[in-house]
Amino acid sequence: MQRTHTCGLLRLEHVGAEVQLCGWVHHIRDKGNLLWIDLRDRYGITQLVLEQYAASEALFKQARELGREYVIQVSGVVIARSARNDKLPTGDIEVQVKTIKVLNPSALPPFCIEEITDGGEALRMQYRYLDLRRMPMQRNLHLRHHVMRATRNWFDDHGFIEVETPLLIRSTPEGARDFIVPAKQRGYGYALPQSPQILKQLLMVGGCDRYYQIARCFRDEDLRSDRQVEFTQIDCELSFVGRDDLLQIFEDLIRYIFLEVQGISLPIFRRLTYRDAMRMYGTDKPDLRLDMPMVVLPLGMVKGRGFELFDQAACVAGIRVTDAGDCTRKQLNHLQEGLQRVVPEVSRLVYVKSQKGHGIKSSVDKFYGVKALRDWYRVLEATPGDLLLLLGGEAPAVQQGFAEVRRALGASGMLQAGVDFAPVWISDFPWLSWDTATCRYRAVHHPFTAPMPEDMHLVEQAPETVRANAYDLVINGVELGGGSVRIHEYLIQEQLFQYLGMSPEDIQKEFGFLVRALRYGAPPHGGIAMGLDRLCVLLGGGSSIRDYIAFPKNNAGRDVMLDAPAPLPV
Ligand code: AMO
Repeated sequence: MQRTHTCGLLRLEHVGAEVQLCGWVHHIRDKGNLLWIDLRDRYGITQLVLEQYAASEALFKQARELGREYVIQVSGVVIARSARNDKLPTGDIEVQVKTIKVLNPSALPPFCIEEITDGGEALRMQYRYLDLRRMPMQRNLHLRHHVMRATRNWFDDHGFIEVETPLLIRSTPEGARDFIVPAKQRGYGYALPQSPQILKQLLMVGGCDRYYQIARCFRDEDLRSDRQVEFTQIDCELSFVGRDDLLQIFEDLIRYIFLEVQGISLPIFRRLTYRDAMRMYGTDKPDLRLDMPMVVLPLGMVKGRGFELFDQAACVAGIRVTDAGDCTRKQLNHLQEGLQRVVPEVSRLVYVKSQKGHGIKSSVDKFYGVKALRDWYRVLEATPGDLLLLLGGEAPAVQQGFAEVRRALGASGMLQAGVDFAPVWISDFPWLSWDTATCRYRAVHHPFTAPMPEDMHLVEQAPETVRANAYDLVINGVELGGGSVRIHEYLIQEQLFQYLGMSPEDIQKEFGFLVRALRYGAPPHGGIAMGLDRLCVLLGGGSSIRDYIAFPKNNAGRDVMLDAPAPLPV
């Protein structure tokens, strides 16, 4: 070993010990005849000290010539510090240096390797290996490792086996574009999996019963802070289970990971149907830390007062923002501007403020008297001190508008969330949706999802009314996972493919292997996939999954460090 201890280990009990440390030169403070070096590695920082008169001339000179990020090996004796540094776990001691060996010098780094760096995102990505040396990045990688370890432990304890599935496969339709890998045979190629969906179903046909995999997935889609073209799923599938069994199992898994990794006890997982989620929150990813359901106002309460927006609206709805009656004009303008940008169809945000002792004031005072405004308060179950926000327009636009208003309210800090985490299962999604561009149905989840058993009789007569036996797990407005009970009967699978516009020949060509497999005694089965990267953000905080991926792509899907994608050789 080149070192006796790491840079995070030494304490008062080591005083007097001869030690050897290795690490990077973090800082040097030169006080003339005294020199301090902060030596850093993944485990922490240890202060080294050299006194001009105690150290040899050559050693002192050598130390002075060290630069930032030089890799050095030092030997010395642990001594107690006269002034302890409370901020460092090693802050009680320092190491009096006897020898220094430069293992490798370093060019001057393009940004500082600190908790908070001066490097912009682009530079940090280009020099990702330097960015990774920063403690926050080390903590993030550590957390990710813990999540994976807890995941594997839990699955192992519950009888699941980890099975790897291939990366060079055929297209797996998950709604994005495929990444294609050219094959040796001219004109042929593989697709990288958008998820191991079909393969995990075939593992169930293969009798594996309980499968999981920490699986890499590839989707060529537009990127956002919670999307990468290459990302990781905690993927899972079980045989001989129904939806409620599945939800309970995945809830147990997520509960275990939160507790194991961060000591967090999650509250009860709520359940909402897709319809209720849209009706109450205007989105299928509601952030239930802010429980402000939308309430539709009877049109008689808002129409016929000369306020054109409401007079022409098909739907007028409102939310109550508890205790926000004293919000400022600036805050309301900010909400209004955001709304205009995101959902221009419902450009005008109507507000009613009431402060205790100051009466009611609204942005539509010209049209509605105090009595009408009081009625709105009553319908929205608000009390003095609350703020009411109202929107009018077509119902879908009003829903979208409130989804945005709730998101913006949460982000603005105007609201104090009652709880830290609010998990909710959203279920009963529509099975199919009509795509007007292609004049075909498309599968809302993916085309292997079973209909709800109660809706089976509608599959032939009214497929658009069928609900899917699918569920999403949403925590704090983030879609963490999605899954479903699968179709295990080939006739239904064929029927669904036909609804999606596939001819019998297309079905044979694209999915012949799957339909064939379903004819050989496929067990009832179902599963889920959770986004590992998103789970890390929920557990560790931050705004982007990039922070928890060692070598992520930028928003244009480029790896700026490797300079990929690169032109292909011709
Ligand atoms: P779905 O497409 O809903 O389902 O994906 C499951 C979860 O994977 C995560 N995720 C992503 N994370 C980062 N970047 C992306 N581009 C990205 N896309 C998805 C999300 C999402 O909830 N095969 C099905 C699962 C199943 O039915 O079992 C599937 O992949 O957290």
